[in-house]
Amino acid sequence: MAENQKIQTIGVLTSGGDAPGMNAAIRAVVRRGLSNGLKVKGIYKGYNGLLNEEIKDMSARDVSDTIQRGGTVLYTARCAEFRTEEGQRRGAEVCRKHGIEGLVVIGGDGSFAGARKLANLGINTIGVPGTIDLDIACTEYTIGFDTAVNTAMEAIDKVRDTSTSHERCSIIEVMGRNAGYLALWCGIANGAEDVLLPEKYDYDEQKIINNIIENRKLGKKHHIIINAEGIGHSEAMAKRIEAATGIETRATILGHMQRGGSPTCKDRVYASTMGAMAVDLLLAGKTCRVVGYRHGEYVDFDINEALSMEKRISEYQYEVCSSLSHNYDKHETKIQ
Ligand code: ADP
Ligand code: F6P
Repeated sequence: MAENQKIQTIGVLTSGGDAPGMNAAIRAVVRRGLSNGLKVKGIYKGYNGLLNEEIKDMSARDVSDTIQRGGTVLYTARCAEFRTEEGQRRGAEVCRKHGIEGLVVIGGDGSFAGARKLANLGINTIGVPGTIDLDIACTEYTIGFDTAVNTAMEAIDKVRDTSTSHERCSIIEVMGRNAGYLALWCGIANGAEDVLLPEKYDYDEQKIINNIIENRKLGKKHHIIINAEGIGHSEAMAKRIEAATGIETRATILGHMQRGGSPTCKDRVYASTMGAMAVDLLLAGKTCRVVGYRHGEYVDFDINEALSMEKRISEYQYEVCSSLSHNYDKHETKIQ
């Protein structure tokens, strides 16, 4: 341990929805901490486990055989009590009782709001962005998005096979809470005919219906609509579209399968780097920071600043997605 190093014990927890790659981040926190002479404590089940003192000393072996596993070995939870001042005060007390001077919180914006409260109560706290939704403004990367978007892409390819065979229209709903990143990326990667994003959709269903009818007249065998969870109602939409077009239409809601599975190489590497960086920030005496990835570099931001930032769908990427989904040779040949 460096001579001027003040911190001796740190904790790590995962909070909010789990995301593939969280285990790589936990492993990095544990091993980076231990290799710098710190004691590392795993806090189970997010802020819930903190309040219930579900806390365990972590050894390097405790995180063996975890980097390739989806989910989070520390489990995760959503904790209503921690939203209250009393809950936050008790959380800080539990940290002090267990000697936890620094805490790494792996989660989304909600978890960071909780981390900020702990930082204000004197616990050095660092956030690491973990969510499949990619909806954290200060960073271009969040742990789990890459795996989830690849999982969704592969699932949509499979739906497309059967949709083409039956000459159907398919509405496929992807996760993302109020954000459309998973939908937009799948829209491009799967070559969908229509992509409905909460940030962009004008609820003009007739436009979609006209598009389906026109494509069918030209001989197109399927029509894939990627619908974001933030818009939802895919089943009802499918019924309306089938009634209006006369074309069999099915809705598939991909659901939680998008959150599971072995993390991609990208998620393992970025999550490992971010976990290690969080420990480095604590070792440097920092608090109330969030790790991010921007313009090709790992960076950190003040949590207050990070939470006040706004994230927008790239207009350019959206325009590219729309332009690639239309056919431009309508009057020349029939589409296959
Ligand atoms: P995510 O971290 O993925 O955004 P949530 O929004 O569900 O997920 O937040 C996870 C947990 O973080 C919540 O269950 C709660 O315990 C805590 N949390 C969220 N918002 C706040 C807040 N404003 N103040 C304190 N804690 C919060
Ligand atoms: O934030 C991740 C996420 O999977 C969202 O995409 C989705 O809206 C939400 O969590 C689902 O939460 P739960 O697993 O509690 O149903």
